[in-house]
Amino acid sequence: MRHAVPQPTVDDIREVIAPHLDREGPLLPILHAVQAAWGCVPDAAVPVIAEALNLSRAEVHGVVSFYHDFREAPAGRHVLRLCRAEACQAMGGKALSEAVLGKLGVSWGETTADGAVTVEPVYCLGLCACAPAAMVDGRVVGRADAARLDALLAEGAA
Ligand code: FES
Repeated sequence: MRHAVPQPTVDDIREVIAPHLDREGPLLPILHAVQAAWGCVPDAAVPVIAEALNLSRAEVHGVVSFYHDFREAPAGRHVLRLCRAEACQAMGGKALSEAVLGKLGVSWGETTADGAVTVEPVYCLGLCACAPAAMVDGRVVGRADAARLDALLAEGAA
């Protein structure tokens, strides 16, 4: 499931993006500012950003989808990132992802029904030598397995 997406007004969005409009390459700073304000880049922000930067909605949406740091819905209390790049996939990452997603009952990018965990893909954490790699709330985990990830998520919940 996805958490309820915030519905900021056009004026709210304009206020958040205004300080960044004069920057060189303003789109990424604007998207970061929007995500910092609402925990995600809500759909409502896309046309406002597109208009302000003279871009199409598709261009803005394309950037939001391309960068895995941007979310289209707010995250749960914990964010678990599982590496889907080649080295990790070859070392059990695929099976680990399937086990974790199955156990939590979510798909990529989704949050558990209790709002505890969001699972997101990541494409190489620089830990290929310790594959499969994961990240729990910003902490990298090498040679990850389901039990270790469970323990880290439980620890973070304490
Ligand atoms: S491929 Fe997974 S950490 Fe590099």
